Amino acid sequence: MCGITGYIGSRDAYPIVIKGLQRLEYRGYDSAGVLLYDGSNAQVYKTKGKVADLQAVVPDLQQKGTICIGHTRWATHGVPNDVNSHPHVSNSGDLAIVHNGIIENYDTIKAELTQRGYTFKSDTDTEVLVNLIEEVQKVNQCKLGKAVQLALNEVIGAYAIAVFDQKKPDELVVAKLGSPLAIGIGENNSEFFVASDASPFIEYTKNAVYLDDEELAIIKVGRDIRIRKIHDDSQVSPEVQALQLNLSQIEKEGFDHFMLKEIYEQPKAIKDTYRGRLLPNEGIIRMAGVEEYIERFKSADRIIIIACGTSWHAGLVAEYLFEEIARIPVEVEYASEFRYRNPIITEKDVVIAISQSGETADSLAAIKMAKAQGAYVFGVCNVVGSSIARESHSGAYTHAGPEIGVASTKAFTTQITLLTLIALKLGKEKGNLANSDFHAHLQNMELIPSKVEKILKQDAAIKEIASEFLETPSCLYLGRGYNFPVALEGALKLKEISYIHAEGYPAAEMKHGPIALIEDGYPVIVIAINKGHYEKVVSNIQEIKSRKGKIIAVVTEGDVTVKEMADHVIEIPEVEEALSPLLTTIPLQLLSYHVAVARGCNVDQPRNLAKSVTVE
Ligand code: F6R
Repeated sequence: MCGITGYIGSRDAYPIVIKGLQRLEYRGYDSAGVLLYDGSNAQVYKTKGKVADLQAVVPDLQQKGTICIGHTRWATHGVPNDVNSHPHVSNSGDLAIVHNGIIENYDTIKAELTQRGYTFKSDTDTEVLVNLIEEVQKVNQCKLGKAVQLALNEVIGAYAIAVFDQKKPDELVVAKLGSPLAIGIGENNSEFFVASDASPFIEYTKNAVYLDDEELAIIKVGRDIRIRKIHDDSQVSPEVQALQLNLSQIEKEGFDHFMLKEIYEQPKAIKDTYRGRLLPNEGIIRMAGVEEYIERFKSADRIIIIACGTSWHAGLVAEYLFEEIARIPVEVEYASEFRYRNPIITEKDVVIAISQSGETADSLAAIKMAKAQGAYVFGVCNVVGSSIARESHSGAYTHAGPEIGVASTKAFTTQITLLTLIALKLGKEKGNLANSDFHAHLQNMELIPSKVEKILKQDAAIKEIASEFLETPSCLYLGRGYNFPVALEGALKLKEISYIHAEGYPAAEMKHGPIALIEDGYPVIVIAINKGHYEKVVSNIQEIKSRKGKIIAVVTEGDVTVKEMADHVIEIPEVEEALSPLLTTIPLQLLSYHVAVARGCNVDQPRNLAKSVTVE
C-alpha cells in the first residue's frame, strides 16, 4: 500500500505534493513525509500520523523549492514511527527515496551492506534499498538512473519508487514493479508529476504515462521522459494517455465523508456500469470483452472467481447468478488461499478476477498463476489501466468512478451490476434463458438506479435505527440465497468502520452455532425480502424473537408478517431475487456508516486499513 508522489518543475512543489498526499491518504495513513529541494539544500520532514501531522512539522520558511517527493505510509516493515517514515536517505545523505511495496530479500542485502560499513536508522526494507542504490553507484561510478536499474535487478519484491540525488538535482528516477506509478506531463515537458495514481495531478495536466512493470523512467524538465526496461535495459516509447478523471470525482462535494458520497453515488455508478452495455430496446447486452472470448465462456467447464474482501462478496453473489442464469458451475476463491494451495486449473477454466483497485497483490498473483496454467482470465476492475486489468486476457471496467472511502460501497454494487450483465449474456448465448425472461431481466435491471434512489431517501430513518446500536459489542447479519453474501458484506462494513464485532451467516445456519449468541437485546440484522425462501427466513426471525434478540429487518415494501415481529424494518422496493443484492446492500451500508459516525470513528480512514492492498 502506501502512496507516493512527487513534483519537478518550476512551481512551488511543496503545496502540490502535500495536496497529492492528502488525496493518496486512502492508501495508508500511518505516517507521512516529504523531501524538499530548494535549489541548494535538500531537507527531509517526516512524522508518524497523517498528512495533517506532517504539515504541522514542516516550518513555513522551508516550504519552498521546485522539487519535492512525498510519501504516505501503511506500515509493513517496522512500526509506524517517525524513524520508519519515508523518505529514507542514504548513508552519504545524497540519495532519498519514497517507496510503495515490499523488498522481500532486504535482510540479505542489509547484512551485505552492513559488512561494507553501512548503518541503518530504521527497520525498513526501503532504507536498505536506497543504500543499495548508493553502493551500486559507488562501485560502478554510474549515474543515478543506471544505479537504480542495477540495484533493482538485485531485489526481490514489489515497488513503485521515486529517487532523488542531491548531486544531480535536476532529475527524478522512478521505477515500478507490482505497485502502480503514474507520471503526469506538463506542457512541453515543462514540469512532471509522479504519483501512485493520477489524483494528485489532475488539475495540472490530463496527459499521463502509466509505467508498466519492470520499467524505470528518468524524468528531467525540458525533455521527454526516458523509459527503460529494468532487466535488459531496452528502451520503451512512452505511451501518453489522456486522463478521464476530473476534480469533482475526488472531492467530497458537500458530503461529510467520501463513504457517504460514494453510497449516494450508487444510482449513477450503476447506470455508468451498464451504460452502452445494457440495451433493452435492442434486446441485447453488448460487452466486447466477453464477446471476444465468447467460445471460451460457452465451453467453460467452470468459472473460478478470484477476489478479496468486498470483491469476494460480489463474487459470491455472482456464483448464484452464473449457476442459476448461465448454468455454469462456479467456485469462488479467496485469492490469498487459492494462490498457495496448488489448485487444479485447466484450459477449460474461465477465471474471473474481481478487484476495485486492480492492484490487490494476492488477486494479481492468483491470476498470474491461473494464466500460467492455461486458464483464460477475465478482469472486473474499477481502476482503468490497473495491474489486474492489464494482466487479464480481457475484461470490463465497472466505471464506478474513484472510490476513496476505504470501505467499499459503490465498488460492490457496480461489480454485481457488471457480473449480472455477464451472467445474463451467457445465459442467453447458451440458450438457458428464454427470450421473454431475458428481456424482462434487461428491463428490471434498468429500473435498479431509481429503486436505489428510493432507498437512499430512508437515510434519516436508518440513522435513527443506528443510534440504538452504538454500545453493542457484537451483532449478527443473516440472509439466504442471493442475500447471504449481502449479510457477509453488511457485517464486514460494520466491523471495519465502527470496530463493532459483526458476523454474517446464512440464515439457516444460525441454529448450528450463532444462535448461542442471542440474548435479550442482541442485535440481529436480517434480510427478509419476499423472494427466495421468505417463509424460512420468517421462521428464523421467530427463533430470534423467542430469545429476545433485537431484530432489524430489510423487507419488501408492504411486508406485514416481518413488520409485526421485527423491532425495526427498512423497506426496499419490489425486485426479483437475482437483482435484490443491489438493493438490500444499500440500507446496510447506511446503517454501518451512521453507527461509525455516531461512535466517533474515522469512517473514511478506519484504523489499520488501507484502500489498496498491494502487499501480501
Ligand atoms: C472492504 C474493502 C476490502 C476490499 C479488498 C479488495 O470494504 O474495501 O475488503 O474489498 O481489499 O480490494 P480490491 O477490490 O481493490 O481488490
